[in-house]
Amino acid sequence: MIQKQKGCNDLYGREAKIWKYVDRMIDEVMEKYNYTYIRTPIIEAKELFHRGIGETTDIVSKETYDFVDRGGREITLRPEGTAGVVRSFIENKMYGDPNQPIKVYYNGTMYRYERPQSGRDRELTQFGMEVLGSDDPLTDAEVISLAVNIYKMLGLKEIKVNINTLGDNESRLRYREALVDYFTPHIKEFCEDCQERLKKNPLRILDCKIDKDNAILKNAPKTLEYLNEESRDRFEKVQEYLEVLEVKYEIDPNIVRGLDYYNHTVFEIEAKVEGFGANNVLGGGGRYNGLCEQLGGPKTPCIGFACGIGRLVSALALEKVPLPITEEIDLFLMYVNEEEKKYAAYLSQELRMAGFIVDTEYIGRSLKAQFKQADRLNAKYIAVLNSEDLDRNEIKMKNSKTKEEEIISLDAIIYYLDEKLGMEEEEENHCSHECSGNCCHHDE
Ligand code: HAM
Repeated sequence: MIQKQKGCNDLYGREAKIWKYVDRMIDEVMEKYNYTYIRTPIIEAKELFHRGIGETTDIVSKETYDFVDRGGREITLRPEGTAGVVRSFIENKMYGDPNQPIKVYYNGTMYRYERPQSGRDRELTQFGMEVLGSDDPLTDAEVISLAVNIYKMLGLKEIKVNINTLGDNESRLRYREALVDYFTPHIKEFCEDCQERLKKNPLRILDCKIDKDNAILKNAPKTLEYLNEESRDRFEKVQEYLEVLEVKYEIDPNIVRGLDYYNHTVFEIEAKVEGFGANNVLGGGGRYNGLCEQLGGPKTPCIGFACGIGRLVSALALEKVPLPITEEIDLFLMYVNEEEKKYAAYLSQELRMAGFIVDTEYIGRSLKAQFKQADRLNAKYIAVLNSEDLDRNEIKMKNSKTKEEEIISLDAIIYYLDEKLGMEEEEENHCSHECSGNCCHHDE
């Protein structure tokens, strides 16, 4: 049997419904913040990521899926969304649009050749957003609050926001020098990669997966001590706006993020749910004011965030968040002979177009087995089409819960279902949790 690749997942059944629900909520919240959807290709020129994310990052040096296509081009499957969005911003001259900043969001598949484990896949789905063309600290705070609000709208409660700043280029340079001075006498105690990183990019030693528990690493200088005044003031402004937006946060001086393009604000959002494990970071992001220029575009300040949807769905399951996932259908139409079958096909289509979830029989089951099937599908109503009723323009509707049966005119079926299902919905909408009626579950 051919099996799926390591670190990849099949999505189907109830879990697929949950993902689609999460996708809808993401669309809804993004729309409220006036972000527009962007879709960029999964395959990009290898150079984009090498130049954008950085040669010395783990993502680029160890985790990309690279190949040469049939035309001899060096291609990489995107490991993240930011570089592609910036490429598209430059290529499509979005910087010339008077409607600045450009606020976009995406939701798609990324590829990282990582060691598969819980919360770490090789094929992963990220949603994310990018604001291109504003350096206002309000955008930093708003991106963080937007991410938090998506989690809140989905019903997650136990989340924690950790922020830090890397400062501007001058501050980063000072910090880099401090790291070199600090690590040089101890570098022999670190892995070979870190010895190389010391020469090329000492910041990357801080997120080394091999040396992460080394005490020397834990006591390394912190970014905040090397900020110039401008960077410090900027970071304070971000915090002021976070307070205005009522986002609770902590400053975590250890956050440096694993991609090279960041400066100023960096942040991660954790799920504080038991069982979530070592990969408890739901999502992360930060400001990347130099990336656009580095990729050949105009100088453009940007900030963004991305979250792995797999991790988000696991957090929802671990927190046991009730989700409005429909596992019921409105009506199951049964039949015995060919004439009734044709009518079932016709009526199913009419009712589906009118907005009802309708199913019927497709594999020649007996009437008894069709009743069982209706049960399995949790049909709220069932109807056995019968030639005599149809000749009289009638249909017998049965409520599966109350077992009540009613013969109605076929002309009235839409009105009938509307009324009956509407009544049931009203009863169900008496929410079982304390939400004063404005939680996401009431929108469905
Ligand atoms: P990142 O921290 O590399 O940032 O990834 C963001 C999120 O993607 C992680 O917090 C995690 O939820 C998810 N993720 C990453 N790798 C995996 C994996 N192997 N399996 C499952 N989930 C994973 C970025 O990608 C940046 N582009 C974020 C950003 C946007 N910065 C600015 N704009």
